Amino acid sequence: MHQYSLADAMTDKGNFTVPKLSESNMGFGVLGVFLGLLLEVSTHGPNAVPRTSWRHQDLDLMEFSEPGIFNYSTLLLSEKRDALYVGAREAIFELSKKNVTVKNNKVEWTVAENPMVMCTLKGKSKEKDCLNYIRVLQVVDDERLYVCGTHAFQPQCDYLNLADFSLDRQPEDGRGKCSFDPSQSFTTVMVDGELYSGTAYNFLGSEPIMSRYSPSQSLLRTEYSTSWLNEPSFVFADVISEGSNRVDGEDDKIYYFFTEVSVEYEFFGKLLIPRVARVCKGDLGGQRTLQKKWTSFLKAKLVCSMPELNFVFNVVHDVFILKGADWKDTVIYGVFTSQWGNVGLSAVCAYNMTAVEDVFSKGKYMQKVTVEQSHTKWVRYNGITPTPRPGACINNLMRQQNISSSLHLPDKTLQFVKDHPLLEDPVLPIGNGPRLITKDVNYTQIVVERVRALDGKIYDVMFTGTDKGILHKSVVYEGEVHIVEEIQLLKNSESIKNLLLSSETRSLYAGSDSGVVQSPTAFCDRYRSCADCVLARDPYCAWDPHTAACVNILDAPSQRPRSLIQSLKGDADKCPSASGLSVKDYQRVKVKPGSSAELPCLVRSNLAQVMWKSNGSVLTEASRFHLIAENGLLIYSVAPEDQGHYECWSVEWAPAAGKNFSRLLAGYVLSLIPPPRAPQQAGHVTPPLNSQETSSTQAAEGNGKTDRALLTSAIAPPSFTATTQFTSPPQTDSSLTPPPSSTIRFQPKLPPLSSNTPHSLDNRVTAAEYLQHNNSTALLFLFLLFFLLFLAALAYNCYMQYLPAPCLRLRGALLGSHKSTHQPEYRACEAGLMEAATSDKMNMTEQPTQNGSQTTQNLKALRDTGYETEPECGNGRIPSHTCGGDSPSQEKPFDVDCESQPIEFADADEPYC
Ligand SMILES: *[C@@H]1O[C@H](CO)[C@@H](O)[C@H](O)[C@H]1NC(C)=O
Ligand SMILES: *[C@@H]1O[C@H](CO)[C@@H](O)[C@H](O)[C@H]1NC(C)=O
Ligand SMILES: *[C@@H]1O[C@H](CO)[C@@H](O)[C@H](O)[C@H]1NC(C)=O
Ligand SMILES: *[C@@H]1O[C@H](CO)[C@@H](O)[C@H](O)[C@H]1NC(C)=O
Ligand SMILES: *[C@@H]1O[C@H](CO)[C@@H](O)[C@H](O)[C@H]1NC(C)=O
Ligand SMILES: *[C@@H]1O[C@H](CO)[C@@H](O)[C@H](O)[C@H]1NC(C)=O
Repeated sequence: MHQYSLADAMTDKGNFTVPKLSESNMGFGVLGVFLGLLLEVSTHGPNAVPRTSWRHQDLDLMEFSEPGIFNYSTLLLSEKRDALYVGAREAIFELSKKNVTVKNNKVEWTVAENPMVMCTLKGKSKEKDCLNYIRVLQVVDDERLYVCGTHAFQPQCDYLNLADFSLDRQPEDGRGKCSFDPSQSFTTVMVDGELYSGTAYNFLGSEPIMSRYSPSQSLLRTEYSTSWLNEPSFVFADVISEGSNRVDGEDDKIYYFFTEVSVEYEFFGKLLIPRVARVCKGDLGGQRTLQKKWTSFLKAKLVCSMPELNFVFNVVHDVFILKGADWKDTVIYGVFTSQWGNVGLSAVCAYNMTAVEDVFSKGKYMQKVTVEQSHTKWVRYNGITPTPRPGACINNLMRQQNISSSLHLPDKTLQFVKDHPLLEDPVLPIGNGPRLITKDVNYTQIVVERVRALDGKIYDVMFTGTDKGILHKSVVYEGEVHIVEEIQLLKNSESIKNLLLSSETRSLYAGSDSGVVQSPTAFCDRYRSCADCVLARDPYCAWDPHTAACVNILDAPSQRPRSLIQSLKGDADKCPSASGLSVKDYQRVKVKPGSSAELPCLVRSNLAQVMWKSNGSVLTEASRFHLIAENGLLIYSVAPEDQGHYECWSVEWAPAAGKNFSRLLAGYVLSLIPPPRAPQQAGHVTPPLNSQETSSTQAAEGNGKTDRALLTSAIAPPSFTATTQFTSPPQTDSSLTPPPSSTIRFQPKLPPLSSNTPHSLDNRVTAAEYLQHNNSTALLFLFLLFFLLFLAALAYNCYMQYLPAPCLRLRGALLGSHKSTHQPEYRACEAGLMEAATSDKMNMTEQPTQNGSQTTQNLKALRDTGYETEPECGNGRIPSHTCGGDSPSQEKPFDVDCESQPIEFADADEPYC
């Protein structure tokens, strides 16, 4: 039934020769996409919620930035040295890989006066565009880096000597190696001293180019043609080495990833398509045809879609190539969004290198044909392809045919590849769908690390950075994705521009406009109990019962992993059973009758639900005067019958284990203080804080080794607040980033368990802000608010005369007698309008050949009548004496004056007014 939908068309493996996508069909497909989204994504759509959220201020990450320097967007990790090289605006830094706060070197590279003036003369801004943004940092050899900058829209490259961290100051032309425009997407990779780039070749950025620069040869580049590259945005390029075990003598290949405007689909606007293109490392260009051009350039479509939801992710933002020991183990990860960004979905798709190879080595070519004189279409090429296969790398078979380099390729092959760079077969993702789909985020970057967990299996841990400075860490377990945690890497909500991973330092490095951040790949030690450590389902983390700590398995001595507890299913039953809190460990809380009590309880997991029990039975929202907030229980007005035992439980659903895990987090004994002799106004006085008893907590702190004791000592002292504090409007803690999305829930939680900071007032106040949504008072309040809004809207519309006559009469009566004299006038206009509506309709049906512009204008006027008074009358066939014909000059607030209105609809049947 969705025969021509976009998703099917793009995932189609070539069931039809001509993609029969007329514009209407395509439109239908897109409409289908949106309908599909509205109806289906909300119900069956992805629902990946990160289990744990770490705020920036909780983590103490290592950061680097220098005042006055911005755009730290180019990063390079040195394998040989302890260095992270950072290319920023007009500066290059060498930071310590182990600790990016340590700056070892810096060199500045600014733009001279002359190029700056040239740049500003061409209309670029002096403060932003006409600076030198370092965009290429590549290793040439042990002593030197190759560095390129946009250099005021005249890209330049230079060598950076690592010994003294100085530039040669003999800049080379950077065209084709580096972008002109600092905001244009762009990619480079250095392979054996040759620089491969995907960028633009001219000032305007209109001539895309994929090139290879080597000091010894002339630039090898793409043909300037829309069938080769059509407004591409390059995101990534890397080499796949074939290794020595390839018997067929295949060449190494460089893969480029980009999004471009499709040529093969017809669409209303520009339909974007994610692509992978490939060139061979040994390519030297052609002898006669394709001189100094790639003879091995081929490209194919990358598919990342949810066929079941009819939804296509058609913009690729970043790619990470996870290289295995053998090239066949290589997996390509890409982050995608949809061209229709407002949908707010991001996806990660993974591709098998073998599948990519297969498409390039066996796929069918597409060919451009001209239909109906000027119109061109791309169809599958069904003719005979010349040999050797166009676009193939030189291998042993060709060498046997005396073709030892691309210079020896026959013209027929070269001409064919020049005309047919696009393959019809798409590259399909592993599992035919995304690995990860997340709502309300835009992923910008991805890195992946392969981890062998204690179960002996290999897991690919995906780190995805967003345009809001957040990092998601996810793992696929038995086909189901689990977002282990989200980390607020950047202090401010800005895009992660670059993300690197070092297995050696077990760190991630993120570059942004404002600085560089280093983060560990795991936060195991932040999980304080065995259950928390196991339920996190983090392949890096395991619980060590000997030390009662959650440890990184990479740190654990290899002889001991046997005793470590890890379950990627999240089966917390493997934990040694904690005996739980005993009643004597419960905190005793005393409050005055009628005042309120807040019993704090911190639930760190976003997947857990809080359950409160009093005297052993579960409290519900319906219970009297109870409010179960995100970080505690609030009892409004404590009465004698509220005394008793209170327990806070976390109930966490572990889908992979198929079980709920309940844990007791805190216990309290609530009792009333006998009222003092001279009773004060209860409920408006904060009881003295020293009335709390913490003796039991302190008693438990001594044996802080076991799970249980940790739990007890973690319980923060309860705080007491007068009811007035909770009825006051909630204040937002300005230091908190507003939750940028539904999955990112940086709730104001209590301080981490380790922290012994007492509750700040902020915590208590924000507690009131994050009330549960099904709270009835909140609902009532919302209802009242909407009702008031409705009344206001009604009143306003009435006042502005947008509503029919009865309302207008009321308005007239309310606004005073002098206005009521014009009452008939309004009514006349009103009536006239209705007449007009019907008669115009008649006109249109009776005279279909009537001047089109008039019809449009009439229609417009009709539409406008809802909002404007004047055209109502102008078009309304009101006899002139009732319509502005009388008193021409009073201070009527909403003057209906047809005379002042030029006869706009001059070609109407008869003039009015
Ligand atoms: C450079 O950083 C500044 C300041 O954060 C930002 O406004 C600008 O957009 C950035 N420019 C580019 C090209 O990234
Ligand atoms: C890729 O596909 C090949 C052949 O189908 C298969 O042998 C290999 O295991 C796959 N690799 C991955 C990572 O899925
Ligand atoms: C390749 O070249 C050699 C010597 O130049 C010649 O003897 C041989 O026949 C050629 N082979 C082919 C397949 O053309
Ligand atoms: C994602 O990016 C698009 C386009 O840049 C923007 O309109 C949208 O608001 C962003 N969504 C989120 C959740 O940041
Ligand atoms: C708990 O039990 C005590 C006595 O057993 C009772 O006085 C109190 O009202 C109970 N509290 C609640 C909240 O049920
Ligand atoms: C798990 O707990 C949740 C929340 O308390 C509950 O809604 C759900 O039914 C429970 N599921 C099972 C299988 O016990």
